[in-house]
Amino acid sequence: MNKQQIKICCIGAGYVGGPTMAVIADKCKNLIIKVVDINQKRIDDWNNEDLSCLPVFEPGLAEIVGRTRNKNLFFTSKIEESIMESDIVFMSVNTPIKQKGIGAGKASDLRWVESSARQIASASVGHTIVVEKSTLPVKTAYTIKNILNSYSNNESGKTPKKTFSVLSNPEFLAEGTAINDLLFPDRVLIGGDNTKAINLLRDIYLNWVPAEKIISTNLWSSELSKLTANAFLAQRISSINSISAVCEVTGADIHEVSKAVGTDTRIGAKFLHPGPGFGGSCFKKDILNLVYLCNYYGLDQVANFWEEVVKINDWQKDRIYKIIVEKLFGNLANKKLSILGFAFKANTNDTRESPAISICADLINEGAKLVIHDPKVDEESIIGDIKNYLRNKNLPFYDCGLEFEKDIYNSVEESDAIIILTEWEDYSNLNWQKISRSMRKPGWVFDTRNIIQIEKVKSSGLNIWCLGVGI
Ligand code: UDX
Ligand code: ADP
Repeated sequence: MNKQQIKICCIGAGYVGGPTMAVIADKCKNLIIKVVDINQKRIDDWNNEDLSCLPVFEPGLAEIVGRTRNKNLFFTSKIEESIMESDIVFMSVNTPIKQKGIGAGKASDLRWVESSARQIASASVGHTIVVEKSTLPVKTAYTIKNILNSYSNNESGKTPKKTFSVLSNPEFLAEGTAINDLLFPDRVLIGGDNTKAINLLRDIYLNWVPAEKIISTNLWSSELSKLTANAFLAQRISSINSISAVCEVTGADIHEVSKAVGTDTRIGAKFLHPGPGFGGSCFKKDILNLVYLCNYYGLDQVANFWEEVVKINDWQKDRIYKIIVEKLFGNLANKKLSILGFAFKANTNDTRESPAISICADLINEGAKLVIHDPKVDEESIIGDIKNYLRNKNLPFYDCGLEFEKDIYNSVEESDAIIILTEWEDYSNLNWQKISRSMRKPGWVFDTRNIIQIEKVKSSGLNIWCLGVGI
């Protein structure tokens, strides 16, 4: 294969596929990269002339897309054609948790993986390296290989035989910092058993990643490492969140505890920030995948250990909602609550598994009227998320007067309480005197992200509750 002519196709133009391919295109000008998707609107949005309208918001992404798009990076819905001409096909499709059938609620729904594997098998020509990018259950590469090989075996002999190498190259980027994570990864993991294919992918990363950071493993280690890394990160959040509740009842301060614990170099300071619970498309799904795998192999103790991480996460969201109800005299009927932040964390427009979903839905179910502000999330996603949550719990979604406001100060007018659910920077420097004047009394502020100055809120005459701070 001539390195100068390597062509890449990425199936799935989502949060992983889009930014990852944009960075590869920017760093490897000799590659031709086509990002394809079955969702025509997504492709149109990626091709939008106005770079502020890309379907994924990531700091630094628009600039890179502006430099590479229609030069060596193309967004297209011509899936077959793009696969056919490619040497390497990345699979970056969605793998949500299965909603029904065997493994419902735990196992990954692999329908998109299977269908894209079939697309590759049918459209590819000659030898194709297939790279798993999406987070997948361990042994998925086996399924993919099986599908691919069943097509190559069916060759009539008229055309050259199709052959495939399957690699696992999990993505460790975090949303909001995706570009930085892609440019300066802690490591790049390549799992596989075909040295030639591994080296080809390695050569691509060597354009900007130091050699010592590129680790080769067998396929299963690579797949399991991704699940384990996410399980460890999520476990740290559940650990600190569990202690936040202990702080509130003992008079300790979770920030002081977190700092004291994190300065132990064996523990480390990162991922010890308390909050309303972890969200995002990966943590819950990956832990539940691990739980499912362990149960499958009869490792029930291990499964129970990891399942607790998810249970504590759900408990944290639930206890926050209950604290809000209790502080507002146990009654939310017709009270106006201002929600600041709906994304699962700052600097992203993604709401998947956002703790805001269940907290808002439970408040609505208590009769509250919500006014939601988020600088990046659109109204349609918020309504869809809340409706889905209530439907899954068999709770009704009445026309509860859900409102949206783009101006923070307008959103808090006549409110009984402000609830900060995402740590957007805009929320850390608010004019609390001004806010207090426009709220109904006694007004409350609930800060689940610990981003506001407690004294400023108190001196404005408002009541404040901060996660993990015993007052
Ligand atoms: C995560 C992993 O970090 C990434 O490596 C993997 O590829 C995908 O999953 P992501 O979900 O984008 O990335 O975001 P991350 O920054 O890990 O945050 C996940 C959730 O944990 C967010 O809801 C965030 O608010 C929360 N969090 C994170 C905390 O509550 N406290 C912390 O200290 C860190
Ligand atoms: P992730 O966060 O893993 O990137 P997303 O849901 O943001 O997940 O993106 C996955 C994308 O993959 C979606 O835009 C979806 O339409 C696309 N997709 C799923 N299956 C296929 C397929 N068979 N062919 C092309 N695109 C697909």
